[in-house]
Amino acid sequence: MAKVNKNIIKIKTPPIDYFNNLLKYKSSSDISQISFGHGIPMHTPVDYHQFKNSILLEPNSYKYTEIKGYYEIRKFISEKIDLKTSFDVNPDNFIITSGANSALFKSLFLHLEEGDEVIIPSPVYFNHVMAIEMIGGVVVEINSNPTNGFQLDTEKIINKINSKTKALIINSPNNPTGAIYDMNDIKKLSQICKKQNLMLILDYTYDDFVYDADYNPLAEFSDLENLIIVGSFSKTFGITGLRLGYICASSHLMDNLSKIQDTISICAPAISQNILLELIKDPNNAIRKNHLSASNSRIKLINELKKSEYLNWQITNGAFYAFVELKNIHDSWKFCENLISNQSILLLPGSIFGDEWNSYVRIAFGSVTPDEVEEGIFRINKYIADTT
Ligand SMILES: Cc1ncc(COP(=O)(O)O)c(C=O)c1O
Repeated sequence: MAKVNKNIIKIKTPPIDYFNNLLKYKSSSDISQISFGHGIPMHTPVDYHQFKNSILLEPNSYKYTEIKGYYEIRKFISEKIDLKTSFDVNPDNFIITSGANSALFKSLFLHLEEGDEVIIPSPVYFNHVMAIEMIGGVVVEINSNPTNGFQLDTEKIINKINSKTKALIINSPNNPTGAIYDMNDIKKLSQICKKQNLMLILDYTYDDFVYDADYNPLAEFSDLENLIIVGSFSKTFGITGLRLGYICASSHLMDNLSKIQDTISICAPAISQNILLELIKDPNNAIRKNHLSASNSRIKLINELKKSEYLNWQITNGAFYAFVELKNIHDSWKFCENLISNQSILLLPGSIFGDEWNSYVRIAFGSVTPDEVEEGIFRINKYIADTT
């Protein structure tokens, strides 16, 4: 048998399908299923947009686009980002990719050589870890602080920088904690990256999901020399299945990035880009609707978790995740499996976001109603009370 690359073999299999399938096939049939597992917003375009164009009948929906993606989409996203930065960005700083995951992989692939270190705050978004390891890089995880809502430990991050360090990945608003990192800390890190000539990759997938705060981490950067922004259209527009994201980078990187994009995907799917072209005619529609539903479920979650004897959430203000401590439980994987089979409720175990977080679970509230939040937290509390 031909040998598989050793970097791929050592990577853990993504856990999402395993837990989704448990809910689908192994949950209790007596009660309704509630999924707090999926990192998706409530509304797809079916809920908020009336398509006038017949995208299915357009021949260009079935053809390659320019490697960088449609100019109109790059213009849209460049104007959105430009409003937040003190420096100028334009459509030539952008490549439309098949999702933010692909954008992140391509950005890392551009920079990393075997053995290079990448620092990431933990809890980690596991696809970041997978991408680094797949390319042959070394992940350096630095724990965030659970007692202050998982803010960054900048001191520790800075102390870990050495001659092998190539990049830092900062994901804010964060998956899985929902933290929006303090802008002073972002500033410190942006300055250190500049000084030491490291790349800071900002995963900005949840930029439109911030609650009760005025938040703009991009204000802390002076240019794109040591910054790559990777972002997504998935969450804002409720189009996770269309696979659209972007890379925003300095124009001098574009030629090399295009080589990677062309080799891996040629371009982002044309039919998806055609759909997005329609949606960006009225972007606020989607943003408002998805933000409002996540916000309502978050308010309900805050109230329900405040009352819980068994669950502890240091409230965070971004994305649509709560990273919640299970007060007396230290095997989050087993807990989540049992919760599915007994209560038909899907949470993701904290351990998949780093070994340290085995007493935590991630509650995704983007696609559940406030009533489901109430019912779900009731069942979780009852299950813990009955079994511990
Ligand atoms: C932090 C983070 N980055 C990237 C992604 C992937 O987004 P996309 O659907 O654009 O690939 C996700 C999806 O959950 C995410 O949470």
